Amino acid sequence: MAAAIKPLVAGNWKMNGLRASEGEFRKMVEGSIAGASGDCDLMICPPATLLASLSAIAADAPFSVGAQDCHVAQKGAHTGDLSAEMLKDAGAAAVIVGHSERRADHGETDEVVAAKAQAAWRAELLAIICVGETEAERKAGEAVAVVARQIAGSVPDGATAENTVIAYEPVWAIGTGLTPTPGDVADIHKSVREELVQRFGAEGESMRILYGGSVKPSNAVELLTVANVNGALVGGASLKAEDFLGITAAYS
Ligand code: PGA
Repeated sequence: MAAAIKPLVAGNWKMNGLRASEGEFRKMVEGSIAGASGDCDLMICPPATLLASLSAIAADAPFSVGAQDCHVAQKGAHTGDLSAEMLKDAGAAAVIVGHSERRADHGETDEVVAAKAQAAWRAELLAIICVGETEAERKAGEAVAVVARQIAGSVPDGATAENTVIAYEPVWAIGTGLTPTPGDVADIHKSVREELVQRFGAEGESMRILYGGSVKPSNAVELLTVANVNGALVGGASLKAEDFLGITAAYS
């Protein structure tokens, strides 16, 4: 069942990257063609300013490009925002929604995140929906309950294995170098899988559940080969081709 799911390793560049970063992305694409990556789908989510140029670089490669956020509306008077349709038009195949940095910095609630996921589907983008507990919630023994609540509120009805990927990212592990133990990852991913199966049946069985938070080449094998972990969402270590390809090699 879960073993048949093709993993996805997606890099989230966050607010990093200028036109000069195109060379690093080209190295990733060339490295993946040369066989330096494992048997997984590959994606980089650069800032929106680089979507068009990176998607052109990846045009003939098995490598896709995604965005980091979208507005819920298709168009209109929303100065500075980007619609899912615009991201698709710029070359995106996916969009991350509900990243903890957006939940924290922009006050995005589960309801907003669910609406953004629906906007992604409307534009025929894959929605990568992020969930994860804070350090205080983990210490209070609430990690499983918090993540279950976020899944219930952020993943809209109609989610399928084709249109949705879940990314479990404990907030305290993002950018800190700290990671949960493989046992903790196994527990949360098992509970997420159960939630998804209960709600979406067979689709929930084959939906990808990524782990994110301080993934790097040296811990990739131990974190990414845990049951019900179907890939990774990688921040800092996705900025360098060597590190990103080193992580994907966990699936070799
Ligand atoms: P990190 O970020 O790999 O730098 O911890 C992960 C993320 O925020 O997606």
